Amino acid sequence: MTVLTGVDDARLFDGVDLHTLASRVQTPLYAYSSSVIRQRTTALQDAFAGLDLRICYAVKANSNLAILQLVAQQGVGADIVSVGELHRSLRAGIPAERIVFSGVGKTAEEIRAALSAGIWRFNVESADELLLLQEVAREEGVCARAAVRVNPDVDAQTHAKISTGKAENKFGVSIDEARTWFVRASRMSHVQLDGLHAHIGSQILNLEPFRHALRRVEDFRQELEAAGHPIHSVDIGGGLGVRYRAGHDRPIAIEDYAALVRETFAAFKGTLVVEPGRWLVAEAGVLVTRVIRVKPGADREFLIVDAAMNDLLRPALYDAWHDIVPLRPRRESACYDVVGPVCETGDTFARGRDMPRCEAGDLLMIGGTGAYGASMASTYNSRPLAAEVLLDDGRYAVVRRRQTLAEMMLGEQLPQDWHEA
Ligand code: LLP
Repeated sequence: MTVLTGVDDARLFDGVDLHTLASRVQTPLYAYSSSVIRQRTTALQDAFAGLDLRICYAVKANSNLAILQLVAQQGVGADIVSVGELHRSLRAGIPAERIVFSGVGKTAEEIRAALSAGIWRFNVESADELLLLQEVAREEGVCARAAVRVNPDVDAQTHAKISTGKAENKFGVSIDEARTWFVRASRMSHVQLDGLHAHIGSQILNLEPFRHALRRVEDFRQELEAAGHPIHSVDIGGGLGVRYRAGHDRPIAIEDYAALVRETFAAFKGTLVVEPGRWLVAEAGVLVTRVIRVKPGADREFLIVDAAMNDLLRPALYDAWHDIVPLRPRRESACYDVVGPVCETGDTFARGRDMPRCEAGDLLMIGGTGAYGASMASTYNSRPLAAEVLLDDGRYAVVRRRQTLAEMMLGEQLPQDWHEA
C-alpha cells in the first residue's frame, strides 16, 4: 500500500495549496486530509476482508466532529472513554450500536448515559465497575453487554507514558481475576459478560508484543469457552504505530498485523473488534505554523513559531519527534531549536534540527499531527485553540474556527454570589 504521509509535497496537501489556506485561515492551523483518512480506513477494511470485524475508531485521537463524520461514512464505529466522546460520536452520526466504552473511571452517570443511548458494549476494567454496571443497568431496566479488559502483562516496547498492558499499569485486570468474573457474572441479572478486550499501548512499531498479548487473550478465550462461558466478541484494542520520522520509523505493515490476527483467532467464531486511533488519522494531519522570528542562541538559533505546546503537546510530553518541513524550502541548511511562544523551556518542537534555513514569515508544516494534536490542545498561556480545516481533493472546509478571545473565557465569571458552605 502506498501511503500519503502529507509531507511528500511541501506545498500541496490533499490538492490544497497550504500557502493559500494559511493566508485565508491564518496560523496556527491544523489541516486534515480526507483522502488519507479514507485511504487508511479502506486499507484496514481490506486487510481484514472476510472476517467478522468491527472497526471502532478511538475518538480520543482526533475528536473533531468532521473527522468522526468522515469515519462514520466509512461504516466505522467508535471507541469512547467519556460521556463527552459519546455525545460527539452520536452527534457525528456514529450509530450507538457501533460504540464501545473503555476507560478505568466510568462514573454511574456516564454508564447511565451510555446505556440509555444503547451503546454496543462496555469494556469493563475493574470488579467495582462491573458491580456498578449491574446496578445501573438494573435501575434502567436493561441488560448491559460487557467485555472484561484483561491486562496481559506484556511490554509494548513503546514510550512508558503510553504503555498500558503491563501488570503495574492501571488498565484492565489480570487473567486470574477475569476468570473469577465469569463465574460471578453468570449470576448477574443485568450484565451479559461475553467479551474480552485488551489494549497494550500506543505507537507500537513491533509485531511481537501484539503476538504475545493476542495469544494470551485467545488462550484465555478458549479456556473460558471450554468452561461453558460463551465469548461473542474479542476486542484487540488499538496501538498500531505510524511513521513520525521519514526514513527512520518503520511501522508494522497492516497486512502483517491482519495476518497475525487471522492466525491467532482462526478458531474464534465471534466478532473481532479493533480500536485504532493514531493509525487512521495521524499521518492525515499537519499543523501549519508561521515563523515569528529567528533568534540567535548560545549554541544554535531558535526558530520561534506561532504554534506552541498548547496546540501540540506531544514533543513536550513524550519527547516525540515530528517532521518539520518548510513550505518553501531554501537551499541552504541550518540547525535550529524549533520553539513556540509559551513560557516554558519544554515548549520545544525540535532540538538541534537540521533543516532548510528559514526567515520570519515563512510557513512550516509539522507532520503526523492528525492524531493527539488538536485533541490534546489547551488554552495554556491564554492562547485560543487553533483552527482546524478538512481538506478534500483541492477543496477545504473549516471544521473548527479559530477560538476567539471571548470564547476562550466563556464560562468564567468574576465572583458575584458568594455562598456559605
Ligand atoms: N483503545 C484504548 C482502550 C486506548 O486507550 C487507546 C489509546 C486506543 C484504543 C487507541 O490507541 P492508538 O491506536 O491511537 O494507539 N496521547 C498519546 C497516545 C495515548 C493513547 C491512549 N489510548 C500520544 O500522543 O502518543
